Amino acid sequence: MLDAVSDTKQFDLRALRNAFGRFATGVAVVSLTDADGQATGVTISSFSSLSLEPPLCLFSLGKNQVSCRWIEAGNGFNVNILRDDQQGAAWQFAKPSEDKFDGVAWYEGRNGLPVIADNLCHFECAHWETYDGGDHIIVVGRIDHFEEGRGDPLVFYRGAMATVSQ
Ligand SMILES: Cc1cc2nc3c(=O)[nH]c(=O)nc-3n(C[C@H](O)[C@H](O)[C@H](O)COP(=O)(O)O)c2cc1C
Repeated sequence: MLDAVSDTKQFDLRALRNAFGRFATGVAVVSLTDADGQATGVTISSFSSLSLEPPLCLFSLGKNQVSCRWIEAGNGFNVNILRDDQQGAAWQFAKPSEDKFDGVAWYEGRNGLPVIADNLCHFECAHWETYDGGDHIIVVGRIDHFEEGRGDPLVFYRGAMATVSQ
């Protein structure tokens, strides 16, 4: 019988990453607070709707991401779906920084966690469950409040940002 490691297919990781990149997604920032209560966040493309009753959504986070620590604290998070004019914020939250929110307008949501201003849509979430997903964790949130804004979405495809009109 094969053990778990030898059973695992050894793909070329760059080729696999490129293949994953063929799935066009929107771009979101998960916003939350760090151990000091400071607003922080992380850019994600792994957002998905999950359930209507109860209202759930999910995303995955690399286990090495600093934000995993703040997710695991269990205080909840907000998911901000970005508009096509928020490309700067998308890249800013995808880089390590002492102050991820530097120059980014935000306000406190009903749950007391940061919301990025002028988003296309945002979901205020309580931590529901975390699952193991290989080198990522799968984070499920229960949506307690959501609001839709105006505009068109920012799109991520094959490593680049685009708009739906492009
Ligand atoms: C468009 C885009 C989508 C991304 N999606 C994810 C994702 O779904 N999960 C993830 O763990 N990292 C994703 N990243 C990478 C993180 O944003 C990046 O590693 C970030 O620096 C992590 O921040 P942290 O270490 O402060 O948590 C994405 C980056 C970009 C530009």
